[in-house]
Amino acid sequence: MKRTAELTFDGKTLELPTVVGSEGEVGIDIATLRSGTGCITLDPGYGNTGSCESAITFIDGEKGILRYRGYDIAELAERSTFIETAYLLIYGDLPTRPQLAEFSEMLTENQMLHESMRHHFEGFPASAHPMAILSAMINAASSYHPNLIHKREERFPFHAARLISQVRTIAAFSHRKAHGLPVTYPKSTLKYTANFLHMMFSMPGEDADLKPEVVRALDTIFLLHADHEQNCSTSTVRMVASSRANLFASASAGVCALWGPLHGGANQAVLEMLQQIHDEGDDGSKFLAAVKDKTTDRRLMGFGHRVYKNFDPRALIIKEQCDKVLAQLHQSDPLLDIAKKLEEIALHDDYFISRKLYPNVDFYSGIIMRAIGIPLDMFTVMFAIGRMPGWIANFKEVMEDPTSRISRPRQIYTGPTQRNYVPVEERA
Ligand code: ACO
Repeated sequence: MKRTAELTFDGKTLELPTVVGSEGEVGIDIATLRSGTGCITLDPGYGNTGSCESAITFIDGEKGILRYRGYDIAELAERSTFIETAYLLIYGDLPTRPQLAEFSEMLTENQMLHESMRHHFEGFPASAHPMAILSAMINAASSYHPNLIHKREERFPFHAARLISQVRTIAAFSHRKAHGLPVTYPKSTLKYTANFLHMMFSMPGEDADLKPEVVRALDTIFLLHADHEQNCSTSTVRMVASSRANLFASASAGVCALWGPLHGGANQAVLEMLQQIHDEGDDGSKFLAAVKDKTTDRRLMGFGHRVYKNFDPRALIIKEQCDKVLAQLHQSDPLLDIAKKLEEIALHDDYFISRKLYPNVDFYSGIIMRAIGIPLDMFTVMFAIGRMPGWIANFKEVMEDPTSRISRPRQIYTGPTQRNYVPVEERA
């Protein structure tokens, strides 16, 4: 049966069609609302607004389900790799062996930055945040391929591979630069995540010890971050792409949106919060009391999510990985103890229960990254490396949609109505 919604305004009834997704989600199509009633919808923060139809990622926030192209995130985390998952997200299906080999080869071929790009790094002060460098350098990379700017579709697979590969090289170079270390070039014999760790930590004449369990843990972190449907940064990428901007410009905008502490910047904020609690000798209870006190604007970072009103499935996987990695590295971390204590208290506290606030992906990921030796200000960069395939898949979807229009929301204007200009000498 065809389902429609009826909306009555000023005595006039408008029949609105519905769009039903493959998992049964229903959207009311309001495309005729303004022409039919003169009204628009108002939904600040977009909690009730679908901005597109997408076949990439499915989330059921009530049940704690996350699937990429139909595959459950837990199954991918256990059986796949970041690069295979990147292919899945961008091209829609798991690759065959030759497809995966071709994709990996393209990543290897494109891993080097143009040598003159190295000089750009010199222009940043040592105090520059790596997210600022990352966004600027992704955009700068597009200037080495001028054809990219006008012909977005041309050689898309090549540019997608170039972006996935080079974001990792840029990230590692920015870390080396910030610490006054010589840059380490990528090694063609290493796979994606091992190669990144090599560029981060190898020293001239002394290659980093790439422990398989560490490589696997970081690869899983990348995979878990690879897409998350229409969040703030992905919506930004789609918005920029809708103007027909190129892939690198769109991804660079995504990096900026991701930087904020309410989004990707939360992984850094979680560690800073845990460190502060530790330094104050608190076991977490004083901090949680402050969080619940509505006269402060404190938040329990790494908790809560716009979509998940249950456990973030990625948080469950990361928590398990966290215990494993610390055990394998024979490390203990007092911040992990504080995190576990905070989680335990929060999950039994009415403030968090009534608001359906559960740990999100960022609550434990920082502890793994800290154990691996990733510096705090690089945490959000790790998120950006992981999210790149999702942004690229969303860019591709916009680019290939024949009905795609430039994104241009409307507003309800609340400023002054028309008034006349008053010369400065006559103003009160
Ligand atoms: N700590 C304390 N209270 C919280 C938290 C939190 N982490 N998150 C939400 N709340 C409270 C709000 O104060 C509000 O309470 P009220 O109803 O009494 O006013 C209620 O829960 C609803 O919060 P909103 O801000 O309306 O929820 P929204 O969906 O807009 O925000 C967000 C989601 C931004 C993730 C929020 O939960 C948050 O700030 N969390 C901490 C930051 C964080 O971890 N971000 C990472 C998100 S995951 C990601 O991007 C990968």
